[in-house]
Amino acid sequence: MYYENIKESADFILERIDEAPKTAVILGSGLGGVVDIMTDKTVIPYEDIPNFPRSTVPGHAGNLVIGKIGAQTVAAMQGRFHYYEGFSMKELTYPVYVMKLIGVENIIITNACGGVNRSFKPGDLMIIDNYINFLGQNPLIGDNDERLGPRFPDMSEPFSKELLEKAEKAAEKLGIDYKRGVYALFNGPCYESAAEIHAYEVLGADAVGMSTVPEIIAANHAGMKVFGVSCVTNMATGIAKVKHSHEEVVRVANESSTKLCEWLKTMLIDW
Ligand code: HPA
Repeated sequence: MYYENIKESADFILERIDEAPKTAVILGSGLGGVVDIMTDKTVIPYEDIPNFPRSTVPGHAGNLVIGKIGAQTVAAMQGRFHYYEGFSMKELTYPVYVMKLIGVENIIITNACGGVNRSFKPGDLMIIDNYINFLGQNPLIGDNDERLGPRFPDMSEPFSKELLEKAEKAAEKLGIDYKRGVYALFNGPCYESAAEIHAYEVLGADAVGMSTVPEIIAANHAGMKVFGVSCVTNMATGIAKVKHSHEEVVRVANESSTKLCEWLKTMLIDW
């Protein structure tokens, strides 16, 4: 049933576009502006796609936008799904498998995060080198459909070296300064306590956020090449001198979005 649902969503999308995208971008909080640099756009609201989940968070528009960046046809998910919204891990990774069935091979996953590494500052962009899943949940729990991926996927290299090199080249060309680090997934929706952040810091996290890891796991399961980039919107609890607010997270993400868009655009144009 699960596979048939995914196939139905994918077929619905394929019927509405001329060329299937090879690359998809998942846009995090306040980073939806990537769609502004796309041309020849087809906008498909999530609510129109059969079986597709619906966004509930401000800052997440809830559209699948397929269009061109340079010569490439790209699918942008303007709005993603989070565990804290009440979605199951299977539901929130559902779109990754839909991307797979429309022919996507490369997936770029973005997010807003809190900086745990004390050398970071709000506005920094961080290439995700690795992740820690602190959730104790996994989207692959349950029956495995071999048409989507193997039962026990390897996770020794969750991010594609090839995409990383493309990102590094593009950053160098644009003179973009970026960090690299480990992204830790916290369930949310409250921000972390200072003691939790201290624990994560000791355990090797550079950044913390409420998304991305389920999609990274699903995309690896589905055999896609993955690139992840985080926008540090605030320093994490206990390191930050002020209290957190979602409005501030979205504001800083919007500000950094210009830099991130330029970066992705250059990366995609020189593909
Ligand atoms: N913690 C968790 N998620 C976040 C944060 C944070 O500090 N900032 C943006 N997303």
